[in-house]
Amino acid sequence: MDRIDLVFPEIIGKAEKNIYGVFAEHIGGVIYDGIYVGEDSTGPNVHGFRKEIIVKMKKANIPLVRWPGGCFAEVYDWMDGIGPKEERPTRVSCWTMRDGRYEPNLVGTDEFLDFCEQLGAEAYIAANITSTTPMHIRKWIDYCNSPAGTTTLSQLRESNGHKEPYNVKLWGVGNETWGGGGNMTPESYAMEYRRYREMMFDVVPGLELILSGANAGDISWTRQMLSVLDNNRGKSSGMSFHYYCGNAGDTVNFTEEEWYRLLSQAGKMDELIRRHWAAVVSYKMEDKAKLCIDEWGCWHPEGTGPSKGYNLFEQQSTMRDAVVTAMTLNIFNNHCEKIKLCTVAQLVNNLHCLFLSAGENCICTPTYHVFDMMQYHQDATVIRTIAECDGLPEDLPGLSVSASMKDGMLTVTAANLSATEDREVSLVPFGGEIGKEAEIITLGDGDIHAYNTFEQPERVVPTTKKVENFSGVVSIPAGGVVTVRVSLK
Ligand code: AHR
Repeated sequence: MDRIDLVFPEIIGKAEKNIYGVFAEHIGGVIYDGIYVGEDSTGPNVHGFRKEIIVKMKKANIPLVRWPGGCFAEVYDWMDGIGPKEERPTRVSCWTMRDGRYEPNLVGTDEFLDFCEQLGAEAYIAANITSTTPMHIRKWIDYCNSPAGTTTLSQLRESNGHKEPYNVKLWGVGNETWGGGGNMTPESYAMEYRRYREMMFDVVPGLELILSGANAGDISWTRQMLSVLDNNRGKSSGMSFHYYCGNAGDTVNFTEEEWYRLLSQAGKMDELIRRHWAAVVSYKMEDKAKLCIDEWGCWHPEGTGPSKGYNLFEQQSTMRDAVVTAMTLNIFNNHCEKIKLCTVAQLVNNLHCLFLSAGENCICTPTYHVFDMMQYHQDATVIRTIAECDGLPEDLPGLSVSASMKDGMLTVTAANLSATEDREVSLVPFGGEIGKEAEIITLGDGDIHAYNTFEQPERVVPTTKKVENFSGVVSIPAGGVVTVRVSLK
């Protein structure tokens, strides 16, 4: 039998709840006909936002939403998205050339922040530093955060329906500045950051500015950027990097070899975190550049979602994506002391999404169910786990695991990375004891290609079993994910 050692005395740290965040960009079908259907929609909505998505995001306790891009952020003028909707301009977005869609600005700052308020989630705004000015971003922060009645922009906010400040704390300074976000060198970005930072940080107290960091394994970007920031410390609170995995066959009809190839790529997140963090530590910037992995997920060939290619980057989501989700969130948990926040790309009708929607239809993907099952790790104390089982092709371990403690309960999430073999796994506690009352939530039934559709929305849903005399042994189907919640003695 396989085993997972639970090493209670080895505490890794607290898994910030914001590790479980999502990204919602103005691209394809994420915002329009995704989260936003409009107040005149005949479908259930709250202030124009799709009710089904709000209810399900609240159920999964999604704590954080990054907006408005992505690349979109770099051509976004926040002033276009405030005031009466009928007076807002329609713009060419950075995605228009790809999908022929124009930005109607019906969802702007007030709408997005209303969405976050409805969810009880924190907002994380990516500021445009490519095609605007530091003064313009300063004014955006003033609009969002100045106390009621103080500044002209706070009065404008009030006249737009929100008297009290939104208190948006998290501001990203640029996006992918090595590419579409300005084609900068790390040194020139660091100088831009310093300039923007001076105009941003003192609008109101308590802002947290996030450096726009490297693409995947480009550690030299991180090093060079930090070297320029090193002499001017004090006002950054995190550093992002982005990592997508893909190039592993068809979204749905992948082979077994492609299953392992994708999982192996997902597993690289572990090494990326270690290497970027080593750079941060070498510049003694641990408290200034905690990691923010604000775009991650699988990037499959386009056109496999319900819109058949109309929504740019929309893809189906199978059990393979669910296992990548569990692996990635386990890696984040196991490095939680280095991580400030993470946002999966993206929320709906796009890459690695939690929902697929069109018109009246809205379904949860297997990825959503993993976020839901793993919510108990949020703000919990993560302990070391050691999995003992046979390895798999591509040098993969047989299991991906993390475990955490909160409110007298232990939560263990394990993904079985084998495409073919079910597993019996024994949880073995060291330096602590687990109780007899357990809840076992299982996603997957051995079909690694399974996914949900509008016609069959519940093909893949978790099952929950309550156990009164828990033996410590758990069954995990091939290509499945299990979360065990058990009382601590
Ligand atoms: O998530 C889609 C795009 O991928 C984002 O806009 C960009 O930041 C990244 O390259």
